[in-house]
Amino acid sequence: MTLSSTTIDYERLRTTLDWKAAEAELGWEPGKPLNIGYLAVDRNVERGLGDKPALIHEDSTGTVRTFTYADVKRLSNGFANRLQEFGVKELDRVCLFLDKAPELYIGFAGILKLGAVAQPLFSAFGEDSLLQRVEDSKAVAIITSRKLVSRVRKIRDRVPELKHVLVIDGNAEGKPLRTDEGEFAFDMEAEAVPEFEIAKTHRESPSVLHYTSGTTGKPKGALHVHSSVFGQYLTTKMVLDLKDDDVYWCTADPGWVTGTSYGIIGPWTMGVTQVVLDAGFSAERWYQTMAKHKVTVWYTAPTAIRLLMKAGTDVVKQHDLSALRHMCSVGEPLNPEGVHWGREAFDLDFHDTYWQTETGSMMITNLPGMVVKPGSMGRPFPAVDGAVLDPVTWEPVSEVGKVGMIGIRPPWPSLMRTYWNNSATYYSKFHNGWYVTGDRGSIDADGYFWFSGRDDDVINTGGHLVGPFEIESALLEHPAVAESAAIGKPDPVNMEVVKAFVALKPGFTGDDDTELSIMNLIRKKLSPLAMPQEIEFVDKLPKTRSGKIMRRLLKAQEWGEEIGDISTLEND
Ligand code: WTA
Repeated sequence: MTLSSTTIDYERLRTTLDWKAAEAELGWEPGKPLNIGYLAVDRNVERGLGDKPALIHEDSTGTVRTFTYADVKRLSNGFANRLQEFGVKELDRVCLFLDKAPELYIGFAGILKLGAVAQPLFSAFGEDSLLQRVEDSKAVAIITSRKLVSRVRKIRDRVPELKHVLVIDGNAEGKPLRTDEGEFAFDMEAEAVPEFEIAKTHRESPSVLHYTSGTTGKPKGALHVHSSVFGQYLTTKMVLDLKDDDVYWCTADPGWVTGTSYGIIGPWTMGVTQVVLDAGFSAERWYQTMAKHKVTVWYTAPTAIRLLMKAGTDVVKQHDLSALRHMCSVGEPLNPEGVHWGREAFDLDFHDTYWQTETGSMMITNLPGMVVKPGSMGRPFPAVDGAVLDPVTWEPVSEVGKVGMIGIRPPWPSLMRTYWNNSATYYSKFHNGWYVTGDRGSIDADGYFWFSGRDDDVINTGGHLVGPFEIESALLEHPAVAESAAIGKPDPVNMEVVKAFVALKPGFTGDDDTELSIMNLIRKKLSPLAMPQEIEFVDKLPKTRSGKIMRRLLKAQEWGEEIGDISTLEND
């Protein structure tokens, strides 16, 4: 296929497409209240879609539960109503700490309808990861389950603002809840109410708070607002190409921004039916899910694609995936092999999309009908102004193929509005009128963007960003550890996995026992994703003269790369 055979007129779209198109399509006019919960749920009921399935939920045992838009309306009202009775107000943060239960999706909508800020948290988070995020946001309520409530209990005394703990299966058999400590059995069906007066939030009212890891310090909370919906809606429509009859499957967990922007807000504001599989990964199970529910559009991630590749093409062919018509990917570089394999296995292209927690919606995309160049992220979404910037002048580089910093020109509706409690870091992301992503890339002669790497030390393991600082802080809590550095080392499936370098205090030896005891300690603190796969004991860590650990050097060694400029290396 040549570029001229593309079936969309990208250049024309670039000059004509405006985010405002979403406003009209969602029936919104300036000056009117704007609420994502309303647009995702109640509006669909008002449009006559009440009986249409909004959520087809399958759990690990294969039990399927279907929730129509009318169901989601009364059930999300129940969340909003109960939280309101507890005194939760507009702008209060409410955490969701759940596996992919229906309550996660429906509760998210309920929190927004109340005008509170939804703060999703991965169910895999260990005590430290949970504490950092709840402590920073000062959330007043958390929606969780029996399985996870013990972790919440461990942090309660350090987060006094957290008053209400709603346990979705609290009525199920098991130890009694600690009702005197604010634990409450929240039975979604029993709590449902037909009507709830949705908060009159506006364009700039905070909606969602997603924490993301950086190189230094604790994770930062990217704060989004209700008008982000315009970006999420338009990209869902044009990139995921959702249509009324589609059955859509976003494999991402709502603990991650993909799982909210495109696993709740995008598809539901379009009134589309979506599938959720709340079960561990297996290729067989994934294809069964797609065949059983006749999934038509699929949004997944390169790590999952690599795992599916490992399982082979034969297993694909054993399932009837004839309904599948469109596939997209996000989160990490999608290797050309992934695209080639997709063509072989599904006779379709994986359409890569590039964006971040901070950008809130897709920025660089492969639109349906555009020629997919395996290994490229595509071109800026037509309403997005993207460039590769010179890191000194912050001007766009005009040279084809020259690597620089990927920048996006503000404003766009779903750009974060700040980092919670950290506006200085937020402002530091802007240079010369551009939002600078912190990723490096280049643009080819056809205007396609190619990713070259992150410009910081954050580890991208299986699409999840892990801050080295979190791991190093956990390691330092072990009595034997003097200092440590965490980096990403190459991995065939997850792209990177965490490797830790540890220098021990005098009197300790780097043997198997020490390693085991360190691993046992940090396992309790970190999520499984952030766990080092390997610990290497070293006498000392490379440092700059100012005493900063040079993770870059350790990483280059691990990847067999040129070490680059080490002139600032400590020299003793
Ligand atoms: C990386 C994910 C290459 C990148 C929605 C970015 C990608 C970070 C791609 C954001 C892609 C995301 N190709 N790298 N298509 N998509 N990334 O905040 O480094 O969890 O800055 O949001 O993932 O990760 P985040």
